[in-house]
Amino acid sequence: MEESRILNVGIDFGTSMSVIASDNGVRACVPSYVGFPKDMISRKMLGKEVLYGDDAIRHRLSCNVYRPLELGVLKHSDNSKDNPSGYQQTIEVAKKLLEHLVDLATQGRPEDFIIRAVIGAPALAGESNKQALIDISDGVLDFVQIVSEPFSVAYGMNLLNNTLVIDIGAGTVDLCRMQGLFPTKEDQITTYKAGDYIDNVFFDLIEAKYPDANYTLNMLKQFKEEHAIISNNAEKLYLSLPIQGKPTALDVTDEIRQACRTIVPEITEGIKYLVSTYDPEFQSELKENIILAGGGSQVVGLSEELEKYMLETLGYGSVKRITDPVYAGANGALMYCKDLPEEEWAEFKKNAKKHPKK
Ligand SMILES: Nc1ncnc2c1ncn2[C@@H]1O[C@H](COP(=O)(O)OP(=O)(O)OP(=O)(O)O)[C@@H](O)[C@H]1O
Ligand SMILES: [Mg+2]
Repeated sequence: MEESRILNVGIDFGTSMSVIASDNGVRACVPSYVGFPKDMISRKMLGKEVLYGDDAIRHRLSCNVYRPLELGVLKHSDNSKDNPSGYQQTIEVAKKLLEHLVDLATQGRPEDFIIRAVIGAPALAGESNKQALIDISDGVLDFVQIVSEPFSVAYGMNLLNNTLVIDIGAGTVDLCRMQGLFPTKEDQITTYKAGDYIDNVFFDLIEAKYPDANYTLNMLKQFKEEHAIISNNAEKLYLSLPIQGKPTALDVTDEIRQACRTIVPEITEGIKYLVSTYDPEFQSELKENIILAGGGSQVVGLSEELEKYMLETLGYGSVKRITDPVYAGANGALMYCKDLPEEEWAEFKKNAKKHPKK
């Protein structure tokens, strides 16, 4: 392959946020929502046929808004035969989102190049979930490899040995133990209590405490992203919600904390399992290198909570948050994409189609 005509990209196609990083220096992220105007009036008002990310969320009243991923994978990709039309719709919507990401990375420039991509998937995504990602890439990307998301975070940060990466996303929490090799199934755990789960619990708790308040899941998600805290000594947190049209400050201190705490038990179980089944000679080092990634890692007090747990059950532990949780997965996927030897890509060549000229 002629080097100058290859564009390498790393993609983190997330339940909540889709991120791309490319070796032309461009990186971009867009919330994983796609909207289509509902009628002629909305089309005229919006002046476009498809809306992405925040734009789609903002115009959700005049658009049909889709979120193509759920629990870390493309919707219906586990059972596409049971719901062929739902799956087909997901594929079409996801493909649009992928095209948009690639447009952002190439800045819409009509160039004739070959795009090689590494896409992150949940640690224990099945073959059908991975195949769905390959299906949406058809005609958009020329060469595709799928890797586990926490692996790409570890690779990008050069944390290849005696490290446990915990990627806390919207649909899944993925734990991956690195021991200087490609991680296997035994090194990885996926749990499904992640950011979306917190939002749903928070929703139910608010509903129970303030039955007269009006709100949407999206409003609570936004509040969580600004105020998520797990520590006990938090200042009082007030959320302003309309009650019969009048904005009212509601105390949600306990509710936000309780909701955020719901994801902790499965993470601690995962840490315990991956530490206790590791080679005993290297367990100490592993316990000192627990890395939190993903948007959910920003819950204030989470790393301290996990350290407290590790102190009680495993003797000790050191948990650190990465500084760039939004881009870490895509950056790592890009590095892996660039490092993959030419022969490995050649394996994929026979199935690939040429990137269409625009
Ligand atoms: N400051 C914050 N505090 C707490 N949670 C946050 C914060 N910022 C973002 N989140 C949550 O992090 C999640 C998104 O993280 P991320 O972008 O890593 O997920 P994703 O990659 O889209 O999902 P997945 O990996 O499960 O497919 C959402 O649930 C979001 O609400
Ligand atoms: Mg993710």
